[in-house]
Amino acid sequence: MELLRKLSEASGIPGREEEIRELIREALAEHVDEISVDRLGNLIARKKGPGPKVAVAAHMDEIGFLVSHVDEKTGYLRIEPLGGFDPRTLIAKRVTVHTRAGPLVGLIGTKPIHILTEEEKKKKVEIKDLFVDLGLPGEKAKEAVRVGDPVTLRQSFSEVGELVSGKALDDRVGVYVGIEAMRRLSGQQADVYFVGTVQEEVGLRGARTSAFALAPDIAVALDVTLACDMPGVQEHQHITRLGEGVAIKLKDSASISHPGLVRFLIEIAEEEKIPYQLEILPRGGTDAGAMQLAREGAAVVTLSVPTRYVHSVVEAAHKKDIQAAIDLLVAFLARCHQADLRL
Ligand code: CO
Ligand code: ZN
Repeated sequence: MELLRKLSEASGIPGREEEIRELIREALAEHVDEISVDRLGNLIARKKGPGPKVAVAAHMDEIGFLVSHVDEKTGYLRIEPLGGFDPRTLIAKRVTVHTRAGPLVGLIGTKPIHILTEEEKKKKVEIKDLFVDLGLPGEKAKEAVRVGDPVTLRQSFSEVGELVSGKALDDRVGVYVGIEAMRRLSGQQADVYFVGTVQEEVGLRGARTSAFALAPDIAVALDVTLACDMPGVQEHQHITRLGEGVAIKLKDSASISHPGLVRFLIEIAEEEKIPYQLEILPRGGTDAGAMQLAREGAAVVTLSVPTRYVHSVVEAAHKKDIQAAIDLLVAFLARCHQADLRL
């Protein structure tokens, strides 16, 4: 879990994935045949085989912000979101502002309850009203920070009971599953490309260009999915549940999984006794949506790690589900040349 800790605590807003990309490169360097980086910043790590060609994608980016304004008088920053935040989860959080001179700690502050009017108490929080306090006077803030500097949430990774929790498990847990699977894989028939994609959170952009370049026969996205097994949600709306295994996605709003791949994955999971659940996500999408539509199209599926509190700094996943995702991916990559993809 040390690697997952590093991945979760590393920073990488959409378009600025350099730190996380270097971590992946280090983790895979001795385990793959080739590593390259394309013009958008996707990292592509290949483990050669005669074929078929398989792309396994996990996005490197996390939701975050760009500094949009520095107040010269007060030093407070305003921020522009990259990705889908719930503003309620942002109040009273620490952030890191990545400046050209290095990282600065910032605070997303809010008026104390003591002075809120009844009307203000009822008002919905909006990102445009949030500000970041650097603890610096206006002049010094202006000197240190430039418009466009990345801002990420600060949160240390932690084990919580049977779970792991931290920021950016979406999708560093997918990156972790991909790395562990690539490390374990050997002698497979498939020509396997692990792609750490960029800019997923703003529209599956890195997956689109990398899948165009690779033209895979089969593409697997690794991502989190919603686990809504929590108070206040009815059982039929849980989508997935923590501890019940890796989720084989049937559909979300960006892709419908290839039925042959779904069948094949279920078969493998049952044979190998890997716990799995079937997932139907009403809203949201993964890199599979873009990879499915590259060139003439690819047969796609998403393997999801069920995650509670997605897009907050207490995202939480079950250790057993993470292990199941790695086991199923390794078994799949070892056997996918035998998959029957007739429709
Ligand atoms: Co996300
Ligand atoms: Zn994701």
